[in-house]
Amino acid sequence: MTITEVLQFADRLVFAHRGKHLDDIQETVIKGVWQGKTYENIAQECNRSESRIRDVGYQLWKTFSESLGEDINKSNFCSTIERLHIQEKSSISSIYRTNCNFNFGSQTLYQYQKYPQDSQIEDITKTTFQDLSIAPTINPTYFYGRTKELETLSDYIFHQKTRLMAVLGISGIGKTTLVKRFIDLNLQNFDVVIWRNLKLVKSLNSLMTDLLKKISIQNQNILISDEQFTEFFDLLSRQKCLIVLDDVQNIFISGKIAGQYQKQHTEYQNLFQAIAQTEHQSCVILISQEKSQEMTALDREVYPIQNLELEGLDNLAGIEIIQEYKLQDREYWLNLNDMYLGNPLYLQYISTLIKDIFQDSVSQLIAEENLIITEEMKQLFDTSYQRMSNVEKQIVLQISKFDDNVSIEDLKKSCSLSSIDIINGLQSLKRRYLLNQTKTNNTLFSLPSLFKEYIKIFQMSN
Ligand SMILES: Nc1ncnc2c1ncn2[C@@H]1O[C@H](COP(=O)(O)OP(=O)(O)O)[C@@H](O)[C@H]1O
Ligand SMILES: [Mg+2]
Repeated sequence: MTITEVLQFADRLVFAHRGKHLDDIQETVIKGVWQGKTYENIAQECNRSESRIRDVGYQLWKTFSESLGEDINKSNFCSTIERLHIQEKSSISSIYRTNCNFNFGSQTLYQYQKYPQDSQIEDITKTTFQDLSIAPTINPTYFYGRTKELETLSDYIFHQKTRLMAVLGISGIGKTTLVKRFIDLNLQNFDVVIWRNLKLVKSLNSLMTDLLKKISIQNQNILISDEQFTEFFDLLSRQKCLIVLDDVQNIFISGKIAGQYQKQHTEYQNLFQAIAQTEHQSCVILISQEKSQEMTALDREVYPIQNLELEGLDNLAGIEIIQEYKLQDREYWLNLNDMYLGNPLYLQYISTLIKDIFQDSVSQLIAEENLIITEEMKQLFDTSYQRMSNVEKQIVLQISKFDDNVSIEDLKKSCSLSSIDIINGLQSLKRRYLLNQTKTNNTLFSLPSLFKEYIKIFQMSN
């Protein structure tokens, strides 16, 4: 739910109850609470006294509680609004499906109290089978930014009817979190939602058996047979399933060029291609730190497949994470977000370090001569480094020696690799999201700053 939607929703409630729209200070309080801020922070940001902000908050919760017939306060405001928003959307779609004439616009307010008891909604929620036991729980209050990415996912899945898509990016960038948030917001739009992690699945065979068992609970009890694939696709056609496979990089070979299937997992490739090419109404989302060949090679015109490659959080969202740690020197928070590339996991690690070692002072960390890599970040980079081919390792070691961006020519001159090795190595590094490329005429490459520092400190010395 975007902040605009939240404000619109709140405004409709307040208008219905009091006959007045939200004023500026009420909007500021709602925005702040939605972003997980304390009354004290909200007061500081808008230059009002804390008691004034508390008072505005109190009046708002009272109005919402009376309008909705349930107890609303600062701590349950976000989850309640989110739930009502989802119910509102299901209600519209169920009503739309049954072709009733229903004027939602100006009539909505009266309907809010009824929604939770609406039998149509119960029907809808009941038909969604979900197995999200190993997916993380996302608290909407602490989920920041990513509005555009959530819209992109909706567009691919609901409008473009994408059957196979990949959410890609470096470790910690927020792939798992984004996809789970998307599910929380869209659960009611699927008949079946299943989340699996390929770190925990032994073989394709066991995955198929498991998925078929789960999906077929919805229908009659289908026997698992040699015809697993046919049955699987039959189920994907009969109902709208969303299947998420997380940590797909686990089925790729370590120590070789990125995104190549391990021998015992080559069948996955056929499965993924078939999911993209076969006609059905479902979607499979692959979450991976490495881009595999079919994530790039399939013809998008003919087969609906899409990639969503995640970059760091935007400044506002990054700052929200830093804010959670109640650090000092607000004027340096943007620098901190830039230095740690808007990667939410790096921001969590570095904020913890600042708390532990620098007494909450962001400026003290920034004053350090080198970029600080925490032990946890080092472990993440170690894992990425170990997964690289020897050629890639040589390339990153070379690039890290240059102060500026490097060209392919520079690399040819400085290391003993053949042109073809260099070019394939660079492509593989890009598929791991460990290489930046300039968009100027002369193609130049560099390493993401933190990764470069890691190579300089921990690998060049070896
Ligand atoms: N949009 C976000 N807002 C706030 N925290 C986030 C966001 N995305 C990710 N995080 C946090 O960052 C950490 C890493 O996210 P995760 O989704 O596990 O990354 P990935 O799957 O890419 O390795 C988690 O602790 C998660 O809570
Ligand atoms: Mg993940």
